Amino acid sequence: MSNLFAKKSVQKLLKEADESEKGLKRTLTSWSLVSLGIGAIIGAGIFVRTAAAAAQNAGPSVTYGFVLAAIGCALAGLCYAELSSSIPISGSAYTYTYATMGEFLAWIIGWDLILEYAVGAATVGIAWSEYLNNFLTQILEVAPIPYQWCHSPMQVSAEGVHGIINLPALGIVTLISLLLIKGIQESALVNNIIVILKVTIVIMIIALGWQFMRPENHTPYIPAPTTYTDHDGMVYHFGGIMGILGAAGTVFFAFIGFDAVSTAAQETKDPKKSMPVGILGSLVICTVLYILFAHVLTGLEDVEFFRDPSRGGEASVSAAIQAAMPGYGWLSKCVTLAILAGFSSVILVLLLGQSRVFYSMSKDGLLPKVFSDIHPKYKTPYKGNLAILVLVALFAGLVPGNVVGHMTSIGTLFAFILVCIAVIVLRKNEPNMVRQFKTPLVPFVPILGVIACGAMIFGLGWENWLRLIGWLIIGFIIYFGYSRKHSKVNHPEIED
Ligand code: ALA
Repeated sequence: MSNLFAKKSVQKLLKEADESEKGLKRTLTSWSLVSLGIGAIIGAGIFVRTAAAAAQNAGPSVTYGFVLAAIGCALAGLCYAELSSSIPISGSAYTYTYATMGEFLAWIIGWDLILEYAVGAATVGIAWSEYLNNFLTQILEVAPIPYQWCHSPMQVSAEGVHGIINLPALGIVTLISLLLIKGIQESALVNNIIVILKVTIVIMIIALGWQFMRPENHTPYIPAPTTYTDHDGMVYHFGGIMGILGAAGTVFFAFIGFDAVSTAAQETKDPKKSMPVGILGSLVICTVLYILFAHVLTGLEDVEFFRDPSRGGEASVSAAIQAAMPGYGWLSKCVTLAILAGFSSVILVLLLGQSRVFYSMSKDGLLPKVFSDIHPKYKTPYKGNLAILVLVALFAGLVPGNVVGHMTSIGTLFAFILVCIAVIVLRKNEPNMVRQFKTPLVPFVPILGVIACGAMIFGLGWENWLRLIGWLIIGFIIYFGYSRKHSKVNHPEIED
């Protein structure tokens, strides 16, 4: 009978990490990690989800949502930093949970991380598709892709056209998966260039847009509590505290990725030092940029503008620049280009995170061996990458951006809560383990992390709670049907 709470020993994890000669290459430094982090962080969250949160939840007070989301991430980030500096091997929260809280919870978190990485990549792919249309009409001055070929079957346009499949979203996730298969070294170089481009664009929008903000768009800064029903019939709490909590849950998406840094631990040269720098460094830089950016964006146009699909409802940032910043058409074009390139790097890091989690789960026997087969030349888990591609493509092609965006947020928040708890458990169970970086004020910081992330889950509303529960139920079926019987911790007789 297998034990649901069997733990993988930290010593065993570290031994596996030492065997990296045979597996993944150690090539990443602190700077490459910060860059990897920012590459994953700045993306659809700021350029698409911010306007959605302002329209659906909070108006200008979306900035307060960013503050709450940043606090939750910083608290969880401090916990991630302790775990990734003491257990520096691939697999992120999944691996930490296996060492601390046993196999069943590790499975739950690994399964849940699919929402963060794979479904997150699909969300960004869908946002990419919105800006591709912008690129076609604004820059190439040709016709956009017809509605039905760039929207999910669950969407209908104002003119009554039904979506069929989102082909551009599908195309971009395929392209990036192929790049990843070629190897992390090449991918990191491309990523560095894109990071510089994205940060420059965000700073330009803040600096140039500041003078075009209209005070009436910021009045009142926190709208009075009411409800808002979007044109797909979804009902949201708008304004007040609930609005801010909902906005925080939505824009939380914009921070996802800093933890993806921890999934690359096994490819990092000096993980104990580089991990905390990589995780917290990228988080701090992005938080400052986001709050300023959201303040400017909501000052340029009002909530109705961002609710209207034919004005700011899609490709919102570029639409707002065109509408509110006369003479800055060139900036809108630069934004479109930077976003097309920038979103690609986000997809890249998320898919990288996903393949590393699958790699670890497969090494442990919880997923079939095929996910950990390493390519003889590129040293990447190429078969795993291809399988992930199929999963991501299904979400990117067939599900609307709003739905996958919220699923990503809620899944990640849940993972963060388990990471915070893992720090407390590991301090108790492995008090003498060497910790290069220690989370300050344990247990207060992890407990506050749980509360902040819990508040955001609460703000996301019952439809998203149900989606998370449904996803976890599918995970239980796979665990009890396959993983439990193949687990190497529970069945040491299973050969590598
Ligand atoms: N944080 C990433 C984004 O906003 C996932 O696109």
